[in-house]
Amino acid sequence: MATPRVHLPVLQRDQVPHAAQIPADPLVDLFARRIRYLRVSVTDRCNYRCSYCMPEDLGDQLTFASKSAVLTFEELERVITVFARAGVRKVRLTGGEPTVRKGIVDLVARVAGIAGIEQVVMTTNGHLLDELAAPLAAAGLSAVNVSLDTLDPGRFATLTGRGDLRRVLAGIDAAVAAGLTVKTNAVALRGVNEAELVALCEDAWERGAVPRFIEHMPMSDGQLYVTEAELSSGEIRSRLEAALGPLVAQDRPGVDPGPARYWAVGPLGAGQREVGIISAMTDHFCDDCNRLRLTATGDLHACLGHDDAVNLRDVVRAGGSDDDLVRAIAGAVTGKRAGHVFERSGAGAPGKHMIGIGG
Ligand code: 5AD
Ligand code: SF4
Repeated sequence: MATPRVHLPVLQRDQVPHAAQIPADPLVDLFARRIRYLRVSVTDRCNYRCSYCMPEDLGDQLTFASKSAVLTFEELERVITVFARAGVRKVRLTGGEPTVRKGIVDLVARVAGIAGIEQVVMTTNGHLLDELAAPLAAAGLSAVNVSLDTLDPGRFATLTGRGDLRRVLAGIDAAVAAGLTVKTNAVALRGVNEAELVALCEDAWERGAVPRFIEHMPMSDGQLYVTEAELSSGEIRSRLEAALGPLVAQDRPGVDPGPARYWAVGPLGAGQREVGIISAMTDHFCDDCNRLRLTATGDLHACLGHDDAVNLRDVVRAGGSDDDLVRAIAGAVTGKRAGHVFERSGAGAPGKHMIGIGG
């Protein structure tokens, strides 16, 4: 049965929804979507400068949050505990680059220890994973998504500003060896890595990881977005099929695949290889969205594609109770938009930067 749709008033940042609009369940939005998944940016800093995320020249315009503005581990633990009581089951730590936050292993242990949290996972550029994979796994991390856009060392260095491909590949291997589920993320870009799609898959499979491709999305008011560079999921699929044979859609009822659609490649049976494609632009997944995003400074964004947010740090630091936090969370959930409105022309891009929200 189709989910009943309710038309939302468009809320602006800092606008408080009318109390009558707050649903009985703070984690169910006005479109009847249930939130289970919280993405937490633990720092807005990064040791890389990926051109589509935060290039060097935008760096001057960006100010990083001061240390005192960033949620402490105690504050994060408290806020995530409130989310868990309300029904969040999965937490993804992102950044910036989460591994540059001092004490990240301790943070993983704290979050994994919160009653109700079933899965703690991370999105990382992999630069520090060689050292950190084993301690992170021991602390309770179950999976990592590692950004890997190219296998060419020179291109990797250019694309990431200051990245080191060898370190990232060693990080992926260390994560697999530590027993983490590993996926790779490549933003598919025409004229950049389009000739490498098949090689990226084969390399990931050889390492024991699942490759994924992401359609390039406009953020930062579209400043970093190059319309012509975008490769659509259809184009990605047909390029893979030309080399690897038919891709068979893997729809697993009851299993939350996140935003990616997974495709099986090659003969059925044990050891079958899979590839994920995140079609944010040409076939977006907003109708099934089950997530919220918390920035390092406590802004709770209900949608990646819009700038409105409710600040939870202010509630915590004003001495708010857990109920106050739940009310603030319900306010953000109630204001969750039907979906993003950015288009392939770049129109409708949010002002926020990918570096601050972590994908
Ligand atoms: N469009 C699509 N994906 C992006 N990422 C960063 N910026 C963009 C963008 N503009 C990716 C990163 C990372 C993931 C969380 O998001 O490569 O793997
Ligand atoms: Fe850093 Fe990830 Fe952004 Fe690259 S995409 S600059 S690794 S946060």
